[in-house]
Amino acid sequence: KSVHCFSEVDSTNNYAKTLAQKGCDDGTVVLAERQTQGRGRLGRSWDSTDKKGIWMSIVLRPAVGLEDVQIITLAASVAVASALKKAMDVNAGIKWPNDIVLDGKKVCGILTEMSMEMERVNYLVLGIGMNFSQQESEFPKEIRDRATSLGIYLKEKHGLDISGFRRSHLVKTILSELEEVYDTIKEGKVGVIIEEWKKYSVTLGKEVLINYKEEQYIGTAQDIDQNGRLIVRLSDGTVREVLSGEVSVRG
Ligand code: BTN
Repeated sequence: KSVHCFSEVDSTNNYAKTLAQKGCDDGTVVLAERQTQGRGRLGRSWDSTDKKGIWMSIVLRPAVGLEDVQIITLAASVAVASALKKAMDVNAGIKWPNDIVLDGKKVCGILTEMSMEMERVNYLVLGIGMNFSQQESEFPKEIRDRATSLGIYLKEKHGLDISGFRRSHLVKTILSELEEVYDTIKEGKVGVIIEEWKKYSVTLGKEVLINYKEEQYIGTAQDIDQNGRLIVRLSDGTVREVLSGEVSVRG
């Protein structure tokens, strides 16, 4: 499998898409030390400071339709959470759909972008942004209360210094965990992914505030279905299936 490493790109997702359009293999990886235009979900920017994080994209070519894309992104978050446990003994949680959190603060986000052809997925780009060694003061002010890095967490929680860990080791572990969940999906075992995801979930059973397009509602996150949709019960007893949008866990 080929791995493309850069000291700087605009966005590893952009570079990965260009490779995908040229026909690169399933599993091609793009890594950069810094991104000048790192992108997040919902049209946001993603702070990608030089050498402080893992800014990585993976091109996948699964033989699936649109309805399976959500499961693949949930599987990617499972792979990241289990890699954090294996490589660094860190217990991370997953906030639906695929934010990786440490004590309620976001340490890693995943941006999935895709190209469809005749109702089938042509390629998927999984973009993973992991905050590794930033200090709190290095985050933009607007996100300081919601963001964390592995360095901040390890110091506060365990008195450990991040300099004792290698980004490359975590990258390797994420990629091998990703390969494992990808194989599970290819074998059609979606239920296994859902069960794994639930083990890491910090969303299920909690009261959530959902922002979706113009709508906003509060309810209890009850479950996720086989397509990865969040099942939310509103206070009037009605049930909503949420496919995307933003969720805040309230209590
Ligand atoms: C989110 O908003 O939670 C998703 C953040 C995804 C950031 C990563 S960093 C590597 C890849 N390249 C990008 O431009 N974005 C993703």
